[in-house]
Amino acid sequence: MFNRKQFLEGRMSSVYKSLHDSYVSNKGRSTSCLTLAIVVGCLTVLGILLAIAVLERPPLPKGHETLPKDSGGGNFSTDQCSMALVESIPEHVKYKPNVTLGIPLEEVWKDLISMATDQMDVASFYWTLTGEDINVNSSSDIPGRGILKELQALPSRNVSVRVVTSIPTIKTNSTDLNGLKQKGVHVRKVNFGRLTKGVLHSKFWIVDRKHVFIGSANMDWRALTQVKELGVVIYNCSSLAKDLQKIFQSYWVMGKPNSSLPQPWPSEYDTDINKHHPLLVEADNVSSRIYLAGSPPSFFPLSRTQDLEAILSAISEAQRYVDVAVMEYFPTTRFEKPRRYWPFIDDAIRMAAFERKVKIRMLISCGRDSDPAMLPFLQSL
Ligand SMILES: *[C@@H]1O[C@H](CO)[C@@H](O)[C@H](O)[C@H]1NC(C)=O
Ligand SMILES: *[C@@H]1O[C@H](CO)[C@@H](O)[C@H](O)[C@H]1NC(C)=O
Ligand SMILES: *[C@@H]1O[C@H](CO)[C@@H](O)[C@H](O)[C@H]1NC(C)=O
Ligand SMILES: *[C@@H]1O[C@H](CO)[C@@H](O)[C@H](O)[C@H]1NC(C)=O
Ligand SMILES: *[C@@H]1O[C@H](CO)[C@@H](O)[C@H](O)[C@H]1NC(C)=O
Ligand SMILES: *[C@@H]1O[C@H](CO)[C@@H](O)[C@H](O)[C@H]1NC(C)=O
Ligand SMILES: *[C@@H]1O[C@H](CO)[C@@H](O)[C@H](O)[C@H]1NC(C)=O
Ligand SMILES: *[C@@H]1O[C@H](CO)[C@@H](O)[C@H](O)[C@H]1NC(C)=O
Repeated sequence: MFNRKQFLEGRMSSVYKSLHDSYVSNKGRSTSCLTLAIVVGCLTVLGILLAIAVLERPPLPKGHETLPKDSGGGNFSTDQCSMALVESIPEHVKYKPNVTLGIPLEEVWKDLISMATDQMDVASFYWTLTGEDINVNSSSDIPGRGILKELQALPSRNVSVRVVTSIPTIKTNSTDLNGLKQKGVHVRKVNFGRLTKGVLHSKFWIVDRKHVFIGSANMDWRALTQVKELGVVIYNCSSLAKDLQKIFQSYWVMGKPNSSLPQPWPSEYDTDINKHHPLLVEADNVSSRIYLAGSPPSFFPLSRTQDLEAILSAISEAQRYVDVAVMEYFPTTRFEKPRRYWPFIDDAIRMAAFERKVKIRMLISCGRDSDPAMLPFLQSL
């Protein structure tokens, strides 16, 4: 991460500055108030990747005895869910034809908007769908502008649109949100800083209570053209969408003025879909066991599996390989001062490689703003 001074100096000059969405520029607030919640938040992409890797594993061959102990504990979905990976490849990064796998993010977002007939709920850390928001004039924001325009048109199609976003955030006076509100979109800013000393770092869409997108992309034009993003879209899956709706609702309610975290959360937020009772989904002839994890723990009832537990169990249950793609890799806290060593995921990776000979591949961002302090950790691995 770069510091605030570098951030302010750089923000005018480069399209690529301030892409670290876990960096928060918020005058008068020291970065030390951002705690572990963000560190875990930074690992969201890791979590998604691991979830897909583990949950979409092919059926074990007959006669194989090592079925996981929690199999059979889940509920079958009666939906005809279909799932696909979603990705965005930055402009100017050229792959050979047909080697990228995911559906382009822009296509999925447009598709979801066009499908909506009734309700759309969107969670994003921040909103900067146009260049103006960050004082950049670049034609590369055209797809972002297009998405914003289509979202703005939803209320006129009688689709009720609700948006939750974070305090603190990157862009405090987003022109996007002002424009959306004028068109009838309901916007709430959840003061995660006050409630948890963290940020709302989730990024997901729920459409008509049955289609879901979850990924690394904020509502940022650069997510469509400048940044490598990854996500998953799940269509026709009301059982999963209803569960994600509970998470959205917890944000929505906490977005009221002067809200305080309920202790415990009322029963309507309870989930019966978790690590021990995953949802069993048959999608495209692949059986998947799915659940939605979350963090920080204070935001959820005990029945919801925490992100850290989900990530650790995905690694520890891996039998053949774990592929990890993250922007940064630090087995330490990043925002809490003094910095603390935080080895839980690092330990799990080492254990899988050493004890079970699981093949581990790690894809880490290496760019102008990358912190070279992470290299010794990577070399050690
Ligand atoms: C899962 O099964 C339990 C008990 O069989 C039931 O109460 C619950 O509603 C089911 N959940 C879903 C999401 O179908
Ligand atoms: C890529 O896929 C398309 C459609 O499946 C096919 O028409 C095309 O020939 C493929 N190109 C290459 C280089 O394999
Ligand atoms: C943005 O750049 C284009 C082309 O370089 C120029 O025509 C346009 O006036 C610029 N817009 C603003 C607001 O500076
Ligand atoms: C939206 O709902 C109103 C009131 O129910 C109705 O008059 C109008 O025709 C609807 N518009 C569209 C585009 O469906
Ligand atoms: C936010 O921006 C709008 C115009 O885009 C302006 O009218 C308003 O005063 C700004 N609010 C703050 C708090 O800067
Ligand atoms: C969802 O289900 C409906 C009705 O079965 C079907 O027409 C539609 O193609 C499905 N959508 C997707 C994206 O699979
Ligand atoms: C929120 O709390 C402040 C300070 O305690 C108070 O002035 C304000 O009226 C409260 N707002 C609401 C909507 O309760
Ligand atoms: C799913 O499996 C069935 C039975 O093996 C097969 O008939 C069908 O074509 C498969 N569907 C897809 C989409 O692969």
